[in-house]
Amino acid sequence: MNLSVIILAAGQGTRMKSSLPKVMHRIAGAPMLEHVYRRSLELGADDIHVVYGHGGEHLHEYCSDFKVDWVLQQAQLGTAHAVQQASPKINSDSTALVLYGDVPLIKAETLKALVSKVSANNIALLTVNLDEPAGYGRIVRDGDKVTSIVEHKDASEDQKLINEVNTGILALRAGYLNECLSKVDNNNSQGEYYLTDIIAMAVTDGNEVFTAQPENSYEVEGVNDRKQLSKLERIHQQEMVEQIMLQGVSVADPGRVDIRGGVKIGSDSFVDINVVFEGDVEIGSNVTIGAGCIITNSKIADDCTIKPYSVIEDAVIEEAVEVGPFARLRPGAHLLKDSRVGNFVEIKNTELGEGSKASHLSYLGDSEIGRDVNIGAGTITCNYDGANKHKTVIKDGAFIGSDSQLIAPVTIGKNATIGAGSTINKDVDDDSLTLSRSVQKSVKGWQRPTKK
Ligand code: UD1
Ligand code: CA
Repeated sequence: MNLSVIILAAGQGTRMKSSLPKVMHRIAGAPMLEHVYRRSLELGADDIHVVYGHGGEHLHEYCSDFKVDWVLQQAQLGTAHAVQQASPKINSDSTALVLYGDVPLIKAETLKALVSKVSANNIALLTVNLDEPAGYGRIVRDGDKVTSIVEHKDASEDQKLINEVNTGILALRAGYLNECLSKVDNNNSQGEYYLTDIIAMAVTDGNEVFTAQPENSYEVEGVNDRKQLSKLERIHQQEMVEQIMLQGVSVADPGRVDIRGGVKIGSDSFVDINVVFEGDVEIGSNVTIGAGCIITNSKIADDCTIKPYSVIEDAVIEEAVEVGPFARLRPGAHLLKDSRVGNFVEIKNTELGEGSKASHLSYLGDSEIGRDVNIGAGTITCNYDGANKHKTVIKDGAFIGSDSQLIAPVTIGKNATIGAGSTINKDVDDDSLTLSRSVQKSVKGWQRPTKK
């Protein structure tokens, strides 16, 4: 069976008080629309149609990698009108599933269960029971059978007591959907074309409305303002953190870790408070991530220790490496086995060899550093001449004295020693000692100038 998804995203979202379209506001670092898009892909949707409204023209730019059909709804005349902008394009035998760009936490399993109930001209409707149903469309039943949905503003006092409400999410054959939509009018308190009216039509036509419910009501919660956005963010974060804990990871405080993307962590690893993971992060077993670390699109192998407040982006860290506290690994940092990077060390596009150390206050950029190299405190690779970047090569076993500047392009030979405070701009041979500072001299009895 073909599955077509229609995602309604034309709402202006005035209550967000934002220049961004509402569905671009983020949950776990990704626009709400992207969450709904990903769920649609997970379901195996054959085609996805996004209905956007005025002000939403920029959505395509932000979401240019989405494989969807973008459909403009010129004026927002109601949910039935919104669906109708896309539904005539769908093959009539296909099952059409209506989702909402501002309902980001819906789960694929819930939708699978819903879609499986669609047959012939019957409708599958996702409903939920709420303690406070005010504002929602109520599910009116005759015995077990659903007969209609009444919008809150159109409901009688008795109907307002109904706790079972419409989530807005429904599925049915596209051919029948189009037939119904052509008959929907706007004779109601809001003067809108209600999608919900197709329920009563189906019942009148002698068709059935089957319902399904989500496991948790937050799956069908919509976002209208930033308070609701942050509520769903916290729920989503809690779920993701629970997942890593179930994989065998200890987390100091599940309420103080943020996962903005996907993270895989091996067992017996430990994540301290205020850690943020962004993008795709892969971490091995027995790794400690200290408090306040921010780790973005990086790989960290087994047995590493990342000490507090380290910022790591697009880096690869091999086994048993120690990083931080206060280290900054920028894109292209590659730390080999057993290496050490200490406080206030910045590393970019650099391979630090096995067992090598840069323990304090350094900048290492565009470098290839061999094994068992010691980089003294305050060493700087001067990789940029104002126009181009150049490479520094430091061979195995070299010792770079503290406060040295290595002016690239330059190569430091194997087991070479650079005296502290040197500025090196020529290649250095293997096994040599090189100093470039002036010879120390003293002036006896030197008088400091005094103030005139
Ligand atoms: C709708 C349902 C209601 C349900 C509730 C769940 C209808 C008539 N009512 O009410 O039964 O309980 O959702 O939240 O369907 N939209 C468009 N274009 C439009 C109108 C709406 O894209 O012309 C989009 C909005 O951006 C929003 C969604 O559809 O994401 C729902 O629209 P809204 O007007 O907020 O419906 P509700 O009044 O909440
Ligand atoms: Ca409305």
